[in-house]
Amino acid sequence: MDDDIELAPPVIRLSALGRRFDSEPPVDALVDVDIEIREGEWVAIVGPSGSGKSTLLNIVGCLDTHTSGSYRFDGIEVSELTDKQRAGLRCRGIGFVFQSFHLLGQRSVIENVMLSDVYRRAPFRDRRARAAAALEKVGLAHRAEFLPTRLSGGERQRVAIARALMGSPRLLLCDEPTGNLDSATTATVLDLFADLNDQGMTIVMITHERDVAERAGRHVSITDGVLTEVH
Ligand SMILES: Nc1ncnc2c1ncn2[C@@H]1O[C@H](COP(=O)(O)OP(=O)(O)O)[C@@H](O)[C@H]1O
Ligand SMILES: [Mg+2]
Repeated sequence: MDDDIELAPPVIRLSALGRRFDSEPPVDALVDVDIEIREGEWVAIVGPSGSGKSTLLNIVGCLDTHTSGSYRFDGIEVSELTDKQRAGLRCRGIGFVFQSFHLLGQRSVIENVMLSDVYRRAPFRDRRARAAAALEKVGLAHRAEFLPTRLSGGERQRVAIARALMGSPRLLLCDEPTGNLDSATTATVLDLFADLNDQGMTIVMITHERDVAERAGRHVSITDGVLTEVH
């Protein structure tokens, strides 16, 4: 028998990663960032405004590119991909959840979820059934035909999470997902993340609220672009 513990391979590996904005003066928004995030982890990134959280999430989400160091997604060096390959990785591998839910007020809940395929330029086959399954997963099947304007903030964010799940992503990236919610609805959204994480979803979540970060299994902090492991 082999007694070695099998560690899940890292989904994300950043090594000495930096992002400089060539503004006047230049801004080093990320400095020498080293982190490995393994399959099935739920990581909270905490830091004050302007510390580099969104820059980091944009790079991990392939919406922006680093200017030094290395970023490997599933072992692939992202800076060596073409723009098209990077977009493909983003559309097929990563789901995004934002602070402001970005739902269309004139479209029903299920149509908002179905629109994920349009944004990701994905094939439309079975998309109503897939959207219904995603809504089921976030506990909102009974709200499918509602307009988002009739939902609470917490329900709206759960619709946005269902939309993010449409592409069956390897990774969920969440930028202040509870920033617009009161404490009761924050709890329901965090419970949903906990369920998804229990089912194996890898989650990276930005927050500046310490009690939100405490729900995640792992907690890193960022200050002036420098990342530090907390626990
Ligand atoms: N496009 C840009 N050009 C120049 N500076 C930028 C740009 N985007 C962000 N920054 C700077 O990088 C730093 C980190 O920003 P950001 O990642 O948005 O922080 P956070 O999300 O933690 O509030 C800030 O000093 C910000 O002003
Ligand atoms: Mg930000």
